[in-house]
Amino acid sequence: MTRNRVLTEIQVVKDLAEISRTAAEMIIHQATAMETCGAPFTLALSGGSTPRMLHERLSHEPAVTRRVPWNNLHFFWGDERHVPPEDPQSNFRMARETLFASAPVPAPNIHRVPAEEPDAVVAAEKYERELRSFFNLKPGQWPRFDCVLLGIGADGHTASLFPATKALKETRRLVAANWVEKFQCHRITMTVPVLNQAAQVIFLVSGRQKAEILKAILEGDYRPDLLPAQLIRPVDGKLLWLVDEAAAGCLSDAIRQ
Ligand code: 6PG
Repeated sequence: MTRNRVLTEIQVVKDLAEISRTAAEMIIHQATAMETCGAPFTLALSGGSTPRMLHERLSHEPAVTRRVPWNNLHFFWGDERHVPPEDPQSNFRMARETLFASAPVPAPNIHRVPAEEPDAVVAAEKYERELRSFFNLKPGQWPRFDCVLLGIGADGHTASLFPATKALKETRRLVAANWVEKFQCHRITMTVPVLNQAAQVIFLVSGRQKAEILKAILEGDYRPDLLPAQLIRPVDGKLLWLVDEAAAGCLSDAIRQ
């Protein structure tokens, strides 16, 4: 376990199955605690492939599924591709197939990004309004998610905050339509201030292909324009890097302790 300036923990576990089991237990524990005090538990999901096994563990394993307080869980997305919900690229579709299709999630608890909007800016504005209304925000206030799940790309991006993109500098909006040159398209992403307001941020990082970038993010120079994942530093919350042995392969012993 390592702690540095920001309340950061790095937990190295055996493999993706163990990442998924550990994250599932954390979510169940925190969501149940919120239910006990009558408050909804707000969870921002990540896209990509890494969270699939976590989703399936929560929704497909009876001994786990029955312990999840589904009525108390509200699902949001840290980012979304600018595609309709039925598109194979859609993060919502991935969650529908791996989580909602087999779990008793009340439909009003699913707050998806309206990414079918032809104009990505409009989609981002609509999702911002959804967040402002759900969290009942006054002007200038930020939403505080109970838990935000994030991944990292081999280029150091997280959510859809890609290197050298405009949204990295966003300080007012909750949600941005971020143009990503290499994909020649927009992505819709929660902004850094929103992600950093969370009570708990959990990075799920698995696989040898993430080892070099993980080392650069955690042990390298602070260059957030090139390594946007370095921007994630909760202002009043916990940051957990839940990584497997393969992804932790390049980390120094000091940081793994
Ligand atoms: C997305 C994600 C993105 C993802 C990383 C890692 O929409 O693609 O939100 O930030 O977490 O690209 O993706 P993998 O888990 O597939 O490696």
